[in-house]
Parts: sequence; C-alpha cells; structure tokens
Amino acid sequence: MDKLNVLVTGGAGFIGSHLVDALVERGHRVRVLDALVSQVHATGERPSHLHAEAEFVYGDVCDSDALERALEGVDVLYHEAAEVGVGQSMYEMQRYVRANTFGTSVLLERLAARRGQIRKLLVASSMSIYGEGAYTCPAHGLVYPQLRPTAQLVERRWEVACEQCGAELAPAPTAEDKPLFPTSVYAITKQDQEQLCLVVGRAYGIPAVALRYFNAYGTRQALSNPYTGVCAIFSSRLLNDQPPLVFEDGGQTRDFVHVSDIVRANLLALETDRADYRAVNVGTGRPTSIGEVGRLLAEGLGKNAEQEIVGKYREGDIRHCVADISRARDLLGYEPRVTLEEGVPELLGWVREQKATDAVARATAELETQGLVR
Ligand SMILES: NC(=O)c1ccc[n+]([C@@H]2O[C@H](COP(=O)([O-])OP(=O)(O)OC[C@H]3O[C@@H](n4cnc5c(N)ncnc54)[C@H](O)[C@@H]3O)[C@@H](O)[C@H]2O)c1
Ligand SMILES: [Zn+2]
Repeated sequence: MDKLNVLVTGGAGFIGSHLVDALVERGHRVRVLDALVSQVHATGERPSHLHAEAEFVYGDVCDSDALERALEGVDVLYHEAAEVGVGQSMYEMQRYVRANTFGTSVLLERLAARRGQIRKLLVASSMSIYGEGAYTCPAHGLVYPQLRPTAQLVERRWEVACEQCGAELAPAPTAEDKPLFPTSVYAITKQDQEQLCLVVGRAYGIPAVALRYFNAYGTRQALSNPYTGVCAIFSSRLLNDQPPLVFEDGGQTRDFVHVSDIVRANLLALETDRADYRAVNVGTGRPTSIGEVGRLLAEGLGKNAEQEIVGKYREGDIRHCVADISRARDLLGYEPRVTLEEGVPELLGWVREQKATDAVARATAELETQGLVR
C-alpha cells in the first residue's frame, strides 16, 4: 500500500491514538484533529501517548474552518471523534448531539466539497446501536427483543423473555442485519454518525466503511472518566481500594475486544474495497459477564475480589450483546487475536502506573438524581 496522508479525528483519545501508532508504523503521514475534551484529557495538553511523528491540530469537528485546515492534502479519513458516555448522554443531550451528530454533518459537508480528494472514510460506529443483542427462543427461533419491560426490572428479574411466549431467551451472536434499536442518546448519535457517513459517502462516491466496535479495552482508556469503559471504570475503583460497582447481578454479558484488534480491523478496512459502504462488527464473538471482568481485574491487581452488587438497574441497559464477526472475517479477513486473559494483564501493567480519581460514585449519583438508576 502506498504512503497515504491520513487524518484521524479524535486521534488523541484511547482508540484513536493506538490507530495513529499503527498508521505511523506503516509509514503513513498522520494528522490528528482533536478538541481534547476535558473529561478525557485532564491536562488539556497534547497527550504524551500521542505518537511524536503525528501532526496535532487542536480543534473541534463542529468547526468548519478547523476542519478545512485539517483536511488539507488528506487522502484518508478516520472519524473517531465523539463524546463517549451512555449514561451522561441521557442528561447532557445537546452535548452529545452536537459533537457526534452535528459534528459529523459539518465534517461531511467539507468532505463533499473535496470529494475527488478523499479515497476512504472510516467511521467508528458502536454496538450500542443494536440495543439488546440477538437471542433464540426454544419455540420461536432467532428473535430480536426490545428492552426488558420496567415491570420486570422492578421485580429484579434480569434475563430477557420471549415477547411472544414468555420463555427465557438464550443470547445468540448479533449480526449486522439485526434491526437497530439504540436505547440512549449516545447510541442514537452513533447510529447517526454511521448512517450519515454511509449515505453521504455513497452519494458522493467516497468509499465509506462503518466499523461497529464492541466493548473496547486496553491501555490509555481514560481511567478517570466515569462514563465509559467498564474495564477502566472497575480498574479506577480498584486502584482506589473501592469495590467495582456492579449493576443488576453481574450476569449481563458483553464482547470485550482489545484495542489492538480494533486497530487491525481499521487497517484491513483501509486495504480492501470489499467492505465499502457497509457496516461491519468488530468484536471477538466471545461473551464475558460483567461479574467475571470484575473478578479478573481485582485478582490481577491483587485486590479483594469482593464486588458491590448494586442490584439496581440503569435505564436503557441491555442484558446481553456479543458480536457475530462472520462479516468481518469474510470481507476484511479479520480474526481477533487477543483474549481477555491476555489483554487484562497488559491493561493492568499500565493501570498500576496510573493515578486515577475515582469519579464513579459521583457519576452514579448524577444518574440517580435524574431517576435513571432504579
Ligand atoms: N471505547 C469503546 O468501547 C467504544 C465502543 C464503540 C465505539 N466507540 C467509538 O470509538 C471512538 C473512540 O472512542 P474512545 O473510546 O477512544 O474514546 P475517547 O474519549 O478516548 O476518544 C475520543 C476522542 O475524541 C475527542 N473529541 C470528542 N469530541 C470532539 C469534538 N467535538 N471535536 C474533536 N475531537 C473531539 C476527545 O477529546 C477524545 O480524544 C468514538 O467514536 C466512540 O464512540 C468506542
Ligand atoms: Zn418464544
């Protein structure tokens, strides 16, 4: 592959900065546009983890002029910038819609004006747009349930029941054709980002790919940001000798994907045109319960593995969602490489060197004030 001029929006963040490393290592010229959102970047300065050879442009994706400067000479664009926080998005709605939905529209207007110039647009989408994952019912086969009814959650019955016969459902791999049912403002804006990029990309002949990341973890995930990243949140609690706060009963499952696998999927999607104008899951296909993650992290840090099972639930939370990665395998030749057992020790090696303010109690209190934890 020839040397490209690549712009990574949000490139100072967790996933973006790892992507920048990989692009620089492959010999590409990389520029970063990032607004250094204070919740993620406590110092407000260019983070030390950002590769020294990357050019840094401080600016907001909602700022058309900043984008114009950042897009000068660019062949490929990775759009990773976003406000990231499911719970927070439920009361700071304008902030999420502005940065994610409006910001993407500003970006796309600038790209449309440069349509001959941009060879590829890759946008970070999210598993959150699915809502509940896919399930199977013994009688009805593959089903796509909505959120669990409030009456059921009030009774602390956590598993998902079939909407037709009431039988308990078994989680199934979630494929890209599952109907989308975003259950938070954040998820709605991620759906917007994905669809805006795919639709506008197609209209202007800018090959666009949306990668639906599952639950990312790895070094550099902002530990003090209480709104995102269960591994980071639990680690920050444990570092401060606090037990991880586990909602429901800890039996909910997610697909934890190491940041290096996400980065590799991004490079593969750049190198092929087979995924153009498509959305592709990026996960591992392996379910892990939240309780298990808490135990792995506590044991790894040598802390008491006791967890605080809150027994409460958060509005909009889903029970199970794990990726079907057949499309990524098929179109990208993607195969996840890092298991949680390998990824957690690496994460913790880094965590031990960090100082993290534990803002989880405050964040949970905010949700409770809004009536979003019950
Ligand atoms: N972390 C996950 O588990 C996960 C899962 C699915 C999707 N994603 C998506 O991946 C992308 C990267 O997420 P991350 O986990 O690295 O988060 P992050 O917060 O570490 O990185 C996001 C970066 O975007 C920047 N940013 C935010 N608003 C901006 C704006 N208006 N203009 C310019 N820059 C802005 C932030 O300063 C930050 O550096 C996001 O689009 C996120 O929605 C993340
Ligand atoms: Zn049924």
